[in-house]
Amino acid sequence: RAHLRQAATHVLFDNWTGAATVPSRALYPHQWSWDSAFIAIGLRHIAPRRAQRELETLLGAQWGDGRIPHIAFNPSVPLGAYFPSPDFWRSSTAGRNAGAPSTTQTSGIVQPPVHALAAWQVHLADPAESRRRGFLPRVYPRLAAWHRYLSTSRDLAGGSLAAVVHPWEPGLDNSPCWDEALARVEPAPRRSFRRADLDHSSAADRPTDLDYARYVRLATTYRDHAYDDARTPHAFAIEDPSFNALLIASEHALAAIARTVGADAGAHLRRAEATTAALIDRLWDPAGGIFLARDLVTGEPIAGHSVSGLVPLIIPGLPQDIASALAGTAHGPRFRLGQVHLVPSYDLTAKEFDANRYWRGPSWFNTAWLIHHGLVRHGEAGAAGRLRAQFLTAAYHSEFAEYLEPYTGEGRGIRRFSWTAALALDLLH
Ligand code: DGY
Repeated sequence: RAHLRQAATHVLFDNWTGAATVPSRALYPHQWSWDSAFIAIGLRHIAPRRAQRELETLLGAQWGDGRIPHIAFNPSVPLGAYFPSPDFWRSSTAGRNAGAPSTTQTSGIVQPPVHALAAWQVHLADPAESRRRGFLPRVYPRLAAWHRYLSTSRDLAGGSLAAVVHPWEPGLDNSPCWDEALARVEPAPRRSFRRADLDHSSAADRPTDLDYARYVRLATTYRDHAYDDARTPHAFAIEDPSFNALLIASEHALAAIARTVGADAGAHLRRAEATTAALIDRLWDPAGGIFLARDLVTGEPIAGHSVSGLVPLIIPGLPQDIASALAGTAHGPRFRLGQVHLVPSYDLTAKEFDANRYWRGPSWFNTAWLIHHGLVRHGEAGAAGRLRAQFLTAAYHSEFAEYLEPYTGEGRGIRRFSWTAALALDLLH
């Protein structure tokens, strides 16, 4: 335990750049949105002020329309080190009408809203220091604007759920769940871009060139429509269970923050309730015992079972029958909780399952952390304890791998990955 704590601390301190933490010096050399939220959740145990800083730096890159970009670029990193780089996104010009900052270069898409959840936990780790620095009063309006953006501009179907418009947005980039929707997207010419990720990670662990060509096309179209959600002809528009579950959990955290700073907590609780009702109404599949994403272009649910469909287990006040069904599905043949390593990102029994390739099967530490909390919340202490023990052992033995081959537990992707270290620290406490 002492070794684990020390090793995890080293990873986070080595990946700290002075104002924020990079997910990885090599593969991800800038600041990522949901990574930073998970990182802050771990950092609060060893450096609470730095954890506040982490979130403040990210919120400093927020756009005027409320969106928190998925990447805030570090200007001292060479352009070729990561693709797509700032010259691709052109945030300060293409994003001008949406209020992109002029001082920081960012991407134009978003990632899951884990930030209010992180801000509240960071506050609780050292309330005196938080008060002294005025942390919550400073971040509250920004977090509220972020949630407002998601529940207005991103409610593309008018069904009270936030939609994602690019596979990088739900964070499960190349999940088989997106295959059908992506097949409709005309790939960008292969020679129009150069991937940098393959300089740092095995090609067998990463999305394919064809995936990238489609990611590039979707981002280009959004950019060329000035990142305007209403004007962009979205070829990819999806209601994702995990993205919305995190929005709900964060809305509950925002209510707690509002109460602390003397703002209206009731409005946040009402929105959390309405979003929970919409999630159950639109995405719950009672037959499968899992939440399914919905494709807004066809209007149909997406049949694939991914770990995203289990994440709503974290929602406070989720009806008990749904929570029990989710726990049952996690332990069933598709995810085999307790029998394989952590929680596979995709249905083990599906033909699309791939044990090595990014979000097509490997087990990730952030989703395991979320499922762990969901199990604790809904009275599954035994299963939660076993998952926690597995998590800590795997984080240490894999040198804080990005993800794991679920059957062997071997590390995949890069090592010394920040959120793996941060969430290990959190589970140690
Ligand atoms: C990447 O670059 O691989 C990320 O997942 C996209 O943000």
